Amino acid sequence: MQKIINKNQNGLKGAITIPADKSISHRAVILCSLAKGKSIIKNFSNGKDPVSSLKICKSLGIDINYINSNELSIISDGNLSIPLENLYCGNSGTTMRLMAGVLAGQNFNSTLTGDESLSNRPMKRIIEPLSLMGADIKSKNNKSPLKIYGKKLHGINYKSELASAQVKSSILLAGLMTDGTTSFTEPTLSRNHTELMLSYMNANITTNGLETSISKSELEPKTIEIPGDISSAAYFIAAALIVPNSEIILKNVGLNPTRTGILEILQKMGANIEILNQKNISNEPVGDLKIKYSQLKSCTIQGSIIPKLIDELPVIAVLATQAEGTTIIKDAQDLRNKESDRIKAIVNELKKLGADIEETPDGMIIHGPQKLLGGINVDSYQDHRIAMSLYVAGLLCSKEILIQDFDWVKISFPEFETLFDTLLT
Ligand code: S3P
Repeated sequence: MQKIINKNQNGLKGAITIPADKSISHRAVILCSLAKGKSIIKNFSNGKDPVSSLKICKSLGIDINYINSNELSIISDGNLSIPLENLYCGNSGTTMRLMAGVLAGQNFNSTLTGDESLSNRPMKRIIEPLSLMGADIKSKNNKSPLKIYGKKLHGINYKSELASAQVKSSILLAGLMTDGTTSFTEPTLSRNHTELMLSYMNANITTNGLETSISKSELEPKTIEIPGDISSAAYFIAAALIVPNSEIILKNVGLNPTRTGILEILQKMGANIEILNQKNISNEPVGDLKIKYSQLKSCTIQGSIIPKLIDELPVIAVLATQAEGTTIIKDAQDLRNKESDRIKAIVNELKKLGADIEETPDGMIIHGPQKLLGGINVDSYQDHRIAMSLYVAGLLCSKEILIQDFDWVKISFPEFETLFDTLLT
């Protein structure tokens, strides 16, 4: 599907509720499938990626039913059964990497497959530590499909060179079903939703700085309510900050400090954002955000903040085109290993729109403020976050733009356009 975006004259106005967090939805359906008894998940994401995790849990014999369009009932005896078919993860790296951790220690074999993009993403990062635990995973060049021959695993003490929540979660999930203690140390803190949910479900898990340790545990079934996704909120935050006259409220946004790097950076850039109604739901902090159009200034984004805003970097690049001065993004080389090479993708497409932006090996440099022109076609690279970032850029372009393969937004955010329509007056 192609999407035409027209310049918006009047600003974004009004309030919307941000739909469910993708990362937390994956974890909720996987962990509830491993808990003995009945769990309820409220506000489960309708994104294709979390639904891939749900379908795989069903293929592994778990009784999962929709109570309504966002609420699930999950009944499990705590065990998975032999799948009758390959387990298809679609576009979802989180599904493949987390499920590899769950499946490596089972007493049956299984195969994880994915779409073209996922089949080109690196899996060595999980195959290596899982193999140290005794896992037997066969693949070609460490890429999907992954053939997992179930083995009895043993605990390890693993120091990761990569700050990746998917890798950390894969090892912790394997450790949850393994005798002995499994410890994972990361170089800087990545999102900790797995740790928080495991602890909420009474697993034997402790975190000490950058080290998390887990030992074999029976999970307690729970009712889990999923907060809104700050990575989805990011597109509205960005649009409201750069489209003149905007003033919006985003309700129910997850504010876990391992995900709020974008808010930290925007504060430095001079953004007018207020946090309201803070509370905790199911062990995760949430709140509402009030955002007003702001004159932004540039900043440097590097080091330990990168994992806290990794998925927001493409839309931050769009914001930086409107900020006064030179914005430098460094230490983000793993952005090249996402659903697309997001450094190349966003730099190429923003350049076509008239931005003054250059690619570096581990990030990009953006000179602003720069008027975006449009009047051309841009490519989403079949990557949901590139498609949504370009939509925001399109709101600023003086002529309309056409985004190729726009419907990839459904991977994380099927409600994206409808919600934008309610705010664009
Ligand atoms: C995710 C972790 C991040 C992020 C991805 C979701 C997760 O990936 O980019 O969209 O849910 O654990 P990495 O762990 O590869 O950094």
